[in-house]
Parts: sequence; C-alpha cells; structure tokens
Amino acid sequence: MANATVTGAWQGRNFIDGAWRHRPHEVFENINPSHADIVLGEYPRSTADDVDTAVRAARHAFDSWRRVSRIRRGELFTNLANLIRRDTDELAAVLSRENGKVLNEARAEIIEGLHMVEYVFGTARQPTGQIVASEIESKELFVRRKPRGVVAVITPWNFPFAVPLWMLGPSLLEGNTTVFKPSEETPEIGQRLVQLIEEAGFPAGTVNLVHGVGEEAGDALARHADVDVVAFTGSYDVGAHIRRLAAASDHKTCALEMGSKSAVIVCADADPALAVNAALLSAFKTTGQRCVSAGRILVHRSRLDAFVDQFVAQARGLKFADPFTPDAFAGPMVNQSGVDKVLMYNELARNEGAKVLLAGGRLLDEPRAGGYFLSPFVYQQEHRSELRTLREEVFGPHVAIIPFDTDEQAIRIYNDTPFGLSMSVVTEDYRRWRLYRDECDYGMGYVNLPCIGAEVHLPFGGVKRSGNGQPSAAALVDSVTHQTAFTVNYDRKIIMAQGMSAQTSADNAK
Ligand code: UN1
Repeated sequence: MANATVTGAWQGRNFIDGAWRHRPHEVFENINPSHADIVLGEYPRSTADDVDTAVRAARHAFDSWRRVSRIRRGELFTNLANLIRRDTDELAAVLSRENGKVLNEARAEIIEGLHMVEYVFGTARQPTGQIVASEIESKELFVRRKPRGVVAVITPWNFPFAVPLWMLGPSLLEGNTTVFKPSEETPEIGQRLVQLIEEAGFPAGTVNLVHGVGEEAGDALARHADVDVVAFTGSYDVGAHIRRLAAASDHKTCALEMGSKSAVIVCADADPALAVNAALLSAFKTTGQRCVSAGRILVHRSRLDAFVDQFVAQARGLKFADPFTPDAFAGPMVNQSGVDKVLMYNELARNEGAKVLLAGGRLLDEPRAGGYFLSPFVYQQEHRSELRTLREEVFGPHVAIIPFDTDEQAIRIYNDTPFGLSMSVVTEDYRRWRLYRDECDYGMGYVNLPCIGAEVHLPFGGVKRSGNGQPSAAALVDSVTHQTAFTVNYDRKIIMAQGMSAQTSADNAK
C-alpha cells in the first residue's frame, strides 16, 4: 500500500503576507528516503530577499495581531484543531512518505501536533501575569507579558509537524507573528501545515512560510535585524551557528534545542523485560533519529550478560522497512549524509576497541537497497572519557552498552558528555530513582520508561550543549514574551519605595 493516500509531485510555494508566491526560483528537490529515485516535489530555494519580504510582512501584521484579544487568537486554534482532525490520515501519510518514519509513528506525531494546538487553545482563557504586593499601601504592582515581535521558527526534519506547532502555537497565542522555515528534507508537511493555518483563518502575515536551504534562507532569517526571537530545534553545530548569527543583533533572543547523547540506565534491581523494551525503543525507534534517542545504555555489571543476550536478540529481529509496511518497526535514515555519518561512527567504534555485538550496516536487499536503510549497530564498551563514540551524537541506529558497578559511577558516566537532554533510569527502588533524578544533567527524565516520548504540555529542552532556552510548549512563553513590571500609584502624592525621599528642591523651599 505504499504511498496509498498521497498523489502527485508537489510544486512548493512560499506563503507570505497571506498569499502563495509564484516568483521564479532556483529549486531544491524533496526525495523519498525509502526510494531515493523518487522525487516528491520541488521547492523554492529562497534567498535573503524572500526572507526579508516575509519578515516585513510579519512585522506589519504584528501591529494589529498583538492587539487582537488573546481569547480570539486562541479560538483560531480550535479551527486549526478541527482541520488537523479532519486530515489526520492524509497528513500522516505525507509525513511517512517524506520523512520515512513508520505510519503509526507519523500518526502519533500528527496527534502530538494536535495536542499542542489544543493546549494552546486551552491556555487562552487561563489567567496570565501576576499582581504583586508593594511596600507602599497605595501602590499596585503588575507583572505582565508582552509579545516580543517577530519569531523565526526554524525546524528539523525528524519532527516536521509537531515541532513547528510547539513553536508557532505559543508564539502566536502570545501575540507574536512568525516566519517559518521548514527543513529542506520535509518541506511538504511544513507547507500542508501552513495551508491548514490559512484555512483556519489566521490573518495575513501572522504565519509566513519560506522554504529553502539552511545556509541560505535559514542563515538570512537568523541574521535578519528585524527578527526578535529565533526558535530552533536541530543539531548542535547548526544551533551554535544560529546563535552566533543572532548575536549580531543586540535585541534578539534564541530558544535552542540541540544535540544529545541520551541514555537509559539499567540498575541492578531493574525489571529485565521492561529494561530491554525501554532500551530498544530509546535506541531504535524513529531509526534512532530523535534528538532524545539513546546513544548509550548503561547496564549494571551484574545484569550485563542477561541484558546483552535479550537486547541483541530483539534488536536483530527489528524490522526496518518502507514506512507503509504494516509491521515495520522503523523506516530508513532521512538521507545519504545521515547514513554516511552512522557508518563512520560504526567504524570508529571498532577503531576505539569496542566489542561489536551486532554489526549493523546498509541493508542492500531489494527494495531496501533503493532507500537509506540501516540495521542496528550494537557494541559493548568500557567507559573512558576520551572515546568519541561515547561522547558524540550519532543520530541513527548505533548504540553503546556501557557496564557500571555502582550508582555513583553510573551518574558520573551519564554526565560525562557535553550534552544533557534526556535520561531514563530503570529501577524498582524509589531512593535510587531519586538519586539519579537529582544528580544527572538532563531536561527530560524518566523512570521505568524509554527516554523518548514526552508529552507536549511539559517543557522540552536540555542543558549544556543540548540547548539554551526551551523552544516548546509552556516553556516557550518565556522566550517569546518579555515580562513587564507596571506600577500604579493611587495616592495624590508620590511615595517612593525603599524609603527614598520624594521631595524636590522646590518642595524643600516651602
Ligand atoms: C525530537 O526528538 O526532536 O519526546 C522531538 C519525544 C517526542 C519529541 C521528540 N515527543 O520523543
């Protein structure tokens, strides 16, 4: 049933100031990662000029959008929710075809995006701001949020529907306007989303879509002097580059979610079946291409042999296939450079002396030879700080099993990377999970679960090189608004705080 509900190759368009633009452009092609000879569509390779037009449209729309009632802004999200519900199956098929994630997961991602839209709608009627006590009885202090202005939304291919909504939703509700640049690997689902946003009735200029490649459109957007916030999810290298570009404008803030070397920690008392299940999902779901995917499984030495037997046997049986195959566990890598990177790290693991337990690599049988398919690479390695394979993000089905002897050692090993995004501990002991909860560096922590699968109303982001600001859900509000302090005096004379005199020299003369 490959590509069952999706038809035709697409001509991508930018959407600026409420109009689909047909300006002639250089184009880039969108490839089906399961069948790399299939071109799914052609999209404009937007220039700095296109980005400038989009930012101007967003700036212009900001003036009126920020004055629209918050509740009215929120109501547009119910329209959007209804449209996503109407089109869930079609959107999931578009996503699977273009990104390669299996249909069940693509559907879950559409639902994740829907949840964000529902969350935003639900927040619209929540109280905002604070009333704070004053030192002076006749004063009232208010803390209120104001939108920052134009938010650049630069999003990855691995969650090309949900992550844009994580960013667009709270930004728009708070009264910002946006310029959205989807990943060049997944432009169609980005464009479908913007079509639904248009249909939902968001005013012209509030959401502008600019297709293009990172070094061109993405850089131009991050650098643009009239962008106020850059919300970005993607690799550490790109995020660090964006932060440097953004720093050229003094007023600009960033919310960045970047790389990881996430881990599942299997303690001495772990439930064996649950540990294997959690580790497999964390390492290989989405072909290891979540930012929260586990590149490391730390296992208590007393449990090592039994865990390795089960984990490797089950990893060997996972089916990596065209995402429309009903029993596929995961699909292909997104592109050739993703494949090359994993193969490079597989080789590096060997060179660093790893004990290879499952020698995964390219899947070259038909029809998988025509796509970017890889099978799992699993190895055992004693922890040493200098080993690159235990520190660097691989972003694919490549996982190290690292033995440990004590909880304190496991915590040291876990923290010994430049990243801190996601962590799961498998244990039956509440004292133990508390220790890991408090001592590990992470943004999202789990007990007896995989280290993937966060819900949208939680903050999502990490520490160290994993991020700076949290470009999602409730947490994004801090990045796309600034808090204002507003003080009102109800007395007829001025009384200053901190005991400061309000007298002027003229008063003194009286
Ligand atoms: C990502 O990997 O970039 O927590 C996002 C999860 C998903 C989101 C992942 N809800 O696994």
